[in-house]
Amino acid sequence: MSFSRSTRFIDDWHTACYVVLKAVAGAISYPIPAEKRKKKNEMSKMTTLADAFYNELQDIYSAEKQLVKAMPKMAKKATCEKLTAAFEKHLEQTTIQVGRVEKAFEDTGKPAKAKTCEAMKGLITEAESMMEEDAVPEVMDAILIGLAQKVEHYEIATYGTLCTWADQLGYTNAKKYLGQNMDEEEKTDKALTALSTAKNKAAMA
Ligand SMILES: [Fe+2]
Ligand SMILES: [Fe+2]
Repeated sequence: MSFSRSTRFIDDWHTACYVVLKAVAGAISYPIPAEKRKKKNEMSKMTTLADAFYNELQDIYSAEKQLVKAMPKMAKKATCEKLTAAFEKHLEQTTIQVGRVEKAFEDTGKPAKAKTCEAMKGLITEAESMMEEDAVPEVMDAILIGLAQKVEHYEIATYGTLCTWADQLGYTNAKKYLGQNMDEEEKTDKALTALSTAKNKAAMA
């Protein structure tokens, strides 16, 4: 067999294998795992902006509740007194924010319930992993500020969306309560930037 004939034979063979495998894959129906099937059934169809609002409210409700559990660890890890105080202050605010979100649910006429916020879960997992790093105190404080600011930015984005939607839906009370939460998140973010500006020089040495 000449060189060109043998390469052609290999090409043809590859093509034949590809066609057979594709046909077999198409013929097999892969069963959906029970867990996934259950999740799909639990998902309710969203047909209006009010449905999307209710869904997003459940997300931030979960996020705030996760933070109430996670923040004490960050406050404990901080070495700078001002940073510890900032975390403790925001923990108190977060506890109050959970209550405000519960009040915001009233405008929807539906019960207050949490739907796991996967984004916050990820941010907290990342924070926990970073807190395990072998970093000198000044550097760990800088890392903690950065982690907390990621959380604040996520919250600001979510509250921003929720406030706009509440306004459009005529949910006056929800807009008031969610707006108060957003205001606190923005102030916390600014306070963290100020702390970072003042403290990080020590970490640059
Ligand atoms: Fe919050
Ligand atoms: Fe926050």
